[in-house]
Amino acid sequence: MTFANIAVTRDGAVAILQLNRPKVLNALNMQLMDELISAFQELDNDDSVLCFVLHGNEKAFAAGADIKEMAEASAAEMIARDQFTRWDKIRKVKKPIIAAVSGFALGGGCELAMHCDIIIASESAKFGQPEINIGVIPGAGGTQRLTRAVGKGAAMEMVLTGRMFSAEDMLRAGLVNKIVPVEFYLTEAVALAKEIASKPPVAVRLAKDAILKAFDTTIETGLEYERKNFYLLFATEDMREGMKAFIEKRKPEWKGK
Ligand code: CAA
Repeated sequence: MTFANIAVTRDGAVAILQLNRPKVLNALNMQLMDELISAFQELDNDDSVLCFVLHGNEKAFAAGADIKEMAEASAAEMIARDQFTRWDKIRKVKKPIIAAVSGFALGGGCELAMHCDIIIASESAKFGQPEINIGVIPGAGGTQRLTRAVGKGAAMEMVLTGRMFSAEDMLRAGLVNKIVPVEFYLTEAVALAKEIASKPPVAVRLAKDAILKAFDTTIETGLEYERKNFYLLFATEDMREGMKAFIEKRKPEWKGK
């Protein structure tokens, strides 16, 4: 797979997607997002891929949507572009996505990290929703996902001041899973992805699916949903193998079926 604005590599069952517009701190223009979405969709349908890592470079995960692409647009043009609806396709990726964040994760960059399932940050990571400083507000889910992740007060502070917050701040707030020295943040994210990729694939997918359900339903409906996914796994060969291997005191061999 070759693209102009992203790079895709593989490490076993892990697909590693790199945002690759370093001169503009990986500003997310529409072409980059189209490429990213099509890579995610194609690899999500590839049985040999079991987990994703999304990263930028040491200086920037992404400094937000491309301001130069939006500066002259009218409201009608922005509505017609409908760019953020396309981002929903990333939310719908079935396999887990780990964001490896170093440097700036601002505006759409912070929102893109929040589309992922787990965030590993380097010590130099800086998170923020600075849209207020250019006369707008987050448009790719920032007001919603950030509020769910860090709570109302912290989300208000980030969105209303537009300030940048350290990886340490974001770890405390619950947005970031782990902070790692800059030299290791990507290796750490890939190691985590490999660990997840070593688990039974259908169970991984249904677990992610059930956890994401918690964000858009009541506890009652969510529990019913979880139970259905739990029972569904009794239809997989991997469930038989997992329980049999436990009883026989051996390592299971997953088939992804
Ligand atoms: N869009 C377009 N270009 C950007 C960009 C962006 N979001 N962020 C950085 N760049 C470009 C700069 O214009 C500059 O390009 P030139 O060399 O051609 O001038 C290059 O990247 C390097 O940037 P700086 O010289 O500004 O680097 P710095 O180290 O001095 O500052 C920064 C870094 C603080 C991140 C600063 O670049 C900045 O504030 N960027 C904008 C951040 C922002 O406002 N993001 C929100 C965008 S709106 C959004 O994302 C909406 C949404 O909800 C999806």
